[in-house]
Amino acid sequence: MKVILLGTAAGGGCPQWNCACRLCTAGLPPRTQDCVAISADGAGWYLLNCSPDIRSQILSTPALLAGPGARETPLRGVLLTDAELDHSLGLLMLREAGGLPVYAPDTVLDALSPVRAITDGYGGWTSLVDLPGLRVDVLPVSDKKPKYVSSTGHGPWAFAYRISDVLTGGVLVYAPCLKSWPPGFDSFVGDASLVLLDGTFYAPDEMAGVGGPDQLAMGHLPITASLARIAGRPGRWAFTHLNNTNPVLDPVSEEHAAVLSAGALLPADGTEFTV
Ligand code: MLT
Ligand code: MN
Ligand code: ZN
Repeated sequence: MKVILLGTAAGGGCPQWNCACRLCTAGLPPRTQDCVAISADGAGWYLLNCSPDIRSQILSTPALLAGPGARETPLRGVLLTDAELDHSLGLLMLREAGGLPVYAPDTVLDALSPVRAITDGYGGWTSLVDLPGLRVDVLPVSDKKPKYVSSTGHGPWAFAYRISDVLTGGVLVYAPCLKSWPPGFDSFVGDASLVLLDGTFYAPDEMAGVGGPDQLAMGHLPITASLARIAGRPGRWAFTHLNNTNPVLDPVSEEHAAVLSAGALLPADGTEFTV
């Protein structure tokens, strides 16, 4: 299976348009909002989440460009981990693809009904049921509800995916919204070849610097807590969904060095893996 990290930043990206914090103004290589493309055969591709940056992400990724027919595209569908706007607004950008196959757990689909009501006017979504050559397992991981959702339901509102290539045995786990290290997660990642973890924040008090909310309320386990969990474990671990407050964005920071020395990766936008 091929895996391309189309975007690796949390909501807002880095730099964020309304932020003049140290990292947003440091001239670091820009990162677009979290989104992943996967393919078993290199011909048909599926998106894991669909960021508001999806148009530029597709146009800068040769494997995802339209063709060879006038209206052919290698994009076969979208799977959503949650209904956060940074993971789903791209569905509005893809409205030109009427009948786009989309899969999401029920709570996520319910939350997105306002988005769907709009895209229905442009041909809507079909139900993504089968990914040839890939097996999909889903684990609920968080009860953190998107801010815009008024439902009083308890969720779960965020999920992790485990995608297995039935031919090669390669396994990708994608978990960009982890509020905690959830029950069942150790076995979910057990034999994974690559695990993409929530790297929103490095430390628990990080949002204080920009007057933000407590980050546990934001539903993101800090990297410091995840590193303790993965210490000494085999496999490839990488952090994505990096918030623009996260010091690991700066490649000369102590925190960046700490992640790498723990054996985890901080891949840039456009990084490709084969699992
Ligand atoms: C999140 O990941 O917690 C959300 O994207 C935050 C937000 O944009 O409100
Ligand atoms: Mn987010
Ligand atoms: Zn900033």
